[in-house]
Amino acid sequence: MTGPVSLHRAAPADIETIMEIERQPEFEHLVGRSARSIHEELVADPGHAYLLGLGDDGAVRGIAILRGIGDPMGGIYLKRIAIRDPGQGFGSAMLAAVIDWAFSLGDVNRFHLDHFTTNSRAHRAYEKCGLRQEGVLREAYRLPEGGFADLAVMAILRSEWESRKGN
Ligand SMILES: CC(C)(COP(=O)(O)OP(=O)(O)OC[C@H]1O[C@@H](n2cnc3c(N)ncnc32)[C@H](O)[C@@H]1OP(=O)(O)O)[C@@H](O)C(=O)NCCC(=O)NCCS
Repeated sequence: MTGPVSLHRAAPADIETIMEIERQPEFEHLVGRSARSIHEELVADPGHAYLLGLGDDGAVRGIAILRGIGDPMGGIYLKRIAIRDPGQGFGSAMLAAVIDWAFSLGDVNRFHLDHFTTNSRAHRAYEKCGLRQEGVLREAYRLPEGGFADLAVMAILRSEWESRKGN
């Protein structure tokens, strides 16, 4: 099991760690990875939030990248989440903290993401955080090796998040 998660905004100095976590060999067909130049640009972009999830020992155990900060439609999109040691409960605990962080920004109504339909572990972790599947974007992702993959769209609305929190 995991202890509490503490979230921190990443700084340019954290990009090395972010690239290391997203590039774990077994993640190749599960999650995207970006070039250093893209991370350098986006970590400083006010429309994005780069969050680090630290365990109770202070070590970085996960990363999350959000897009849509300040979106006039009130939607925040989880572009990426990756955990250093998956399957131990940290990912769902970190995502719950990320969702709290996103809704605490105020004018946010919808937190959404997509994942490969084959990524059952991610789907289960997202369900545990209250996200619901809304549909499937058929062949929406062009695979580097050729062909396309289906993406499942999941979201949690502010009203649903408030109900879960008992607000
Ligand atoms: C997706 C990810 C962030 C989830 O974090 P995590 O720490 O592994 O998730 P948790 O351990 O909190 O929860 C995983 C759940 O999936 C379940 N699970 C594990 N393998 C599974 C599988 N093959 N099929 C279905 N469920 C599975 C676990 O049992 C657990 O559910 P439970 O608590 O009800 O038993 C993490 O696995 C990760 O970084 N994966 C690689 C990158 C990735 O896929 N990113 C998401 C891209 S959309």
